[in-house]
Amino acid sequence: MATVQAFLVLLSLYFCCLHGNPRSAPRVYLSFKELLETKTIRPFSFSFNTSDYRILLMDQDQGRLYLGSREYVVALDMHNINKEPLIIHWPATAQRKGECRMTGKGGQGECANFIRLIEPWNRTHLYACGTGAYKPVCTFINRGWRAEEYLFRLVPGYVESGKGKCPYDPHQENVAALINGNLYAGVHVDFMGTDPAIFRTLGDRPAVRTEQYDSRWLNEPVFIQTHQIPDSSERNDDKLYFFFREKTLDAGGGGSPSVLARVGRICLNDDGGQRSLVNKWTTFLKARLVCSVIGDDGVETYFDEMRDVFIQPTQDERNPVVYAVFTTAGSVFRGSAVCVYSMADIRNVFNGPFSHKHGHNYQWTPYTGKIPYPRPGTCPGGTFTPGLRSTKEFSDEAVNFVRAHPLMYHPVYPLHKRPLVVRTGVDYRFTTIAVDLVDAVDGRYEVLFLGTDRGTVQKVIVLPKDPSTTEELTLEEVEVFRSSAPVKTMKISSKRQQLYVSSERGLTQVSLHRCPVYGKACSDCCLARDPYCAWDGESCSAFTPATKRRSRRQDIKHGDPLRQCRGFNAKENRLKETVQFGVEGSSAFLECQPRSPQATVKWLFQKDGKRKVLNRDAGVVKTGHGVLLKSLAQSDSGLYHCLATENKFKHTVARVALRILDREIVDALTAPDVPSEEHRPHLHPYPPPPPPPPQTVPPQFHPEPEVRLINQYCQSYWQQIQPSQQSKRTSRRHVASHN
Ligand SMILES: *[C@@H]1O[C@H](CO)[C@@H](O)[C@H](O)[C@H]1NC(C)=O
Ligand SMILES: *[C@@H]1O[C@H](CO)[C@@H](O)[C@H](O)[C@H]1NC(C)=O
Repeated sequence: MATVQAFLVLLSLYFCCLHGNPRSAPRVYLSFKELLETKTIRPFSFSFNTSDYRILLMDQDQGRLYLGSREYVVALDMHNINKEPLIIHWPATAQRKGECRMTGKGGQGECANFIRLIEPWNRTHLYACGTGAYKPVCTFINRGWRAEEYLFRLVPGYVESGKGKCPYDPHQENVAALINGNLYAGVHVDFMGTDPAIFRTLGDRPAVRTEQYDSRWLNEPVFIQTHQIPDSSERNDDKLYFFFREKTLDAGGGGSPSVLARVGRICLNDDGGQRSLVNKWTTFLKARLVCSVIGDDGVETYFDEMRDVFIQPTQDERNPVVYAVFTTAGSVFRGSAVCVYSMADIRNVFNGPFSHKHGHNYQWTPYTGKIPYPRPGTCPGGTFTPGLRSTKEFSDEAVNFVRAHPLMYHPVYPLHKRPLVVRTGVDYRFTTIAVDLVDAVDGRYEVLFLGTDRGTVQKVIVLPKDPSTTEELTLEEVEVFRSSAPVKTMKISSKRQQLYVSSERGLTQVSLHRCPVYGKACSDCCLARDPYCAWDGESCSAFTPATKRRSRRQDIKHGDPLRQCRGFNAKENRLKETVQFGVEGSSAFLECQPRSPQATVKWLFQKDGKRKVLNRDAGVVKTGHGVLLKSLAQSDSGLYHCLATENKFKHTVARVALRILDREIVDALTAPDVPSEEHRPHLHPYPPPPPPPPQTVPPQFHPEPEVRLINQYCQSYWQQIQPSQQSKRTSRRHVASHN
């Protein structure tokens, strides 16, 4: 039932507003090959026997990107990932691989060392862990003081257990943060992979974890992200937030979702309880993250399957912005959404009521009884608990309460109570997100980079429309891998203007902008509304506020070329007229492809100096590529104008002079008994015959007007059937933009 209902809701969304929104179609779509031609990407081109390019860690100081994959750790130059990479081969030992196979685990090559954690340890060393063929191991990597040392190697002879730091099973997701020498990890701790935990190891603090096998705490979680966020200027209040999804406790009944997105947190200085919850967190709490849309009929559709989280720092370190990508749970409907959460809203929920359930058959209710001191979730020695030195001093009452009530009653809603971006009725899903804040002439814009499960990255901006609503605009979608595979991990460096994108099979470095692809005209650049780009008087090029010049033209907010491109528009309007031929009684296709899928197209027909909206008796078929005129008559000859309107800006995209040829003459000329083979029009072009000779007037004919026309016709026909790079490119762009 729930499925049917969900289907109807998605169907109605599809028709009402979401799918029909042309703004979710990218302005520019580039295939991998086209993207390569722009010279704005670098696919990692060193091949060695590896896969699972998953772990990416940026080291801004050394300008390095560390990559962890199957049995390899690689240090890359962030500026150019193909420049002298430093490669460490770190396989599991042959003996361990053998033991692993004996347990029957190595079905699909799992008996290998999959690198799953790379964290900065100190100025010279990294801490790294791998699955070690179902026996996790960790070690230190010496990367030297400076990149110029070209030092990158495992510390010889040093290996320690990776239990509680790294999963056994390479199919399980894990997250980790190394803070003050302590490693906090969201990880499956056992060989069977049935004991998930948030675990603290290493360092001087006691090992602490979540309660074992208690589904109220964690219920088959998939860990997605972890991030330290301070609560106040008092360091004792510092908390570590975990983002994960997990199974619902009461799944199956009442149409409730089977998976929920969660934000959980612990105090960094939690040392566990004294009498109960010994070596277990006494400050662990979690809440639901909601991301949903309400349809016209008032029915709410939830995106519960959290996929990725991006934390955008702000001036105030206590209040970063949390961006998360979600998909609809289940495999039938492909819906994705991006929701944004404020820390204030997250904290409010953690300060609100706890979720409570009396017995198995009762509903969850807000807990209304007395709440013990210190309030569960409070850190010892913090702003509200200055007298408590450790969680071991917490009252039994407080410890027992938190054990039974780890869940908050209220969910966290996104900003404005709705997603920033929604996609339904498309054949892909978002898998990853990275965000950049870009300073343009008319303000600061958030640019979202969204990785998809079809190996592309979309670049989306969200513009404020009026105080309460926003509009999203997809600037581009680019194929970042040679062979398509879901995007697995994405890291962004605003400083270097680069995005690093990885999949199971590869890694690609992608520039955040490629302005010339929007087109050669000022209006193209302006209408694109890409805050990274501006018209510099000659071309669409990268805009940086530092090099601001008066002549730079950019208008992200309105995208109004009439205002921004004054003086440049006239030049663009000098569009060349093309001549096309049609044969009486047959049909003709007039091509017109505006650069943007957001443009609306109108055709005008001009004859004897008068221009009218195209309106023929014999019929007109409009497509995304142009217009088809059926059963041509002599009266159809004239000038056709294709007018595109985008954002109130009108301009002529194509101007075609159509000439109609007399059917009888064409038939006569193309009939097999025409005397000279050489001068026969090539109407059946495959395999393509050699091009007709350049002189167009066969000597044996009198140069009558009709004959001249027919020769031109043949030439233009020849040109049309020659597969030209240019026309293929534009059509690809438009085919793709119909998604
Ligand atoms: C590549 O590595 C895998 C896993 O370690 C191994 O099974 C396979 O034999 C290797 N292939 C080659 C060509 O070395
Ligand atoms: C960093 O840590 C490693 C491993 O513990 C140690 O050998 C090294 O001396 C440390 N380096 C610095 C600069 O502290």
